[in-house]
Amino acid sequence: MAPASATVYGEFVTDDVRPYGGGTSDPSLKRVRTRHFQRAKQNGIKITGLTSYDCLSAQIFDEAGIDFLLVGDSAGNTVFGYDTTIPVTVEELIPLTRAVVRAVTRALVIADMPFGSYENGPDEALATAIRFMKETGCHAVKCEGGERSAKQIKRIVRAGIPVMGHVGFTPQSEHGLGGHIIQGRGEEAKQLLADAHAVEEAGAFAVVLEMVPSAVAEQVTKELSIPTISVGAGPHCDGQLLVWSDWAGFTRGRIPRFVKQYAQIGQTLLDAAKTFREDVESGVYPAPEHEYAE
Ligand code: KIV
Repeated sequence: MAPASATVYGEFVTDDVRPYGGGTSDPSLKRVRTRHFQRAKQNGIKITGLTSYDCLSAQIFDEAGIDFLLVGDSAGNTVFGYDTTIPVTVEELIPLTRAVVRAVTRALVIADMPFGSYENGPDEALATAIRFMKETGCHAVKCEGGERSAKQIKRIVRAGIPVMGHVGFTPQSEHGLGGHIIQGRGEEAKQLLADAHAVEEAGAFAVVLEMVPSAVAEQVTKELSIPTISVGAGPHCDGQLLVWSDWAGFTRGRIPRFVKQYAQIGQTLLDAAKTFREDVESGVYPAPEHEYAE
């Protein structure tokens, strides 16, 4: 895979060689580190992230120069077919995270801590984060919640594990929040700001703002020294993250308003599968060029 060019990424260029596992040992290949997130914010360079759950998509996104890949618990919807992210387990996310880590050479890989793997307190949170780091080779973990998760974030960070926070709409609390509802409107903005500050003070290197009004996200972005990553929080955040199957037009059915679809992979696959079926049924495939001679 071609290394990212220094001119393309400007100041967001990395200077570290990947230390272990799964990639090439070519010293010219660079790795995005959490400190480059900070540098990107300081230099006004937007950070890009996509979710990924497998080696094929991860390899492509890495080659495209996407800065970080989140092995999100959105895998509950996109891989495992659950209605929500609530049933997702650590055991389900570990093999997906391993596959993504093996596929990339440059992107920072973040493992999402699923519901029930950190809420019981800092000890449980640290144990889960350690499992992800040791068993997958990921570079950071993410957990949902502002003030309510601050103690957990602090404990994980103190152990030397980078944490991405996640405030605003937090899908694991979908039932508590009363559905997929924009967070931080009106009076709620104060709590959102408090949550974002709590995550920063706990030591997170970045924070996702999900489904937050743009003006509130702008305020958070100005007040925090760590980068804010928008998932439906408008253009003023320091970076943008999307669920790849929504972004690539793979998801069937409704997608959120904030998603821009950059491809129609679902339609392309549907057309290809129909053509394959027709070709097999009519004898067009396999043709002589697909056969082995004796
Ligand atoms: O699981 C996920 O994909 C996420 C992002 C939407 C932030 O948490």
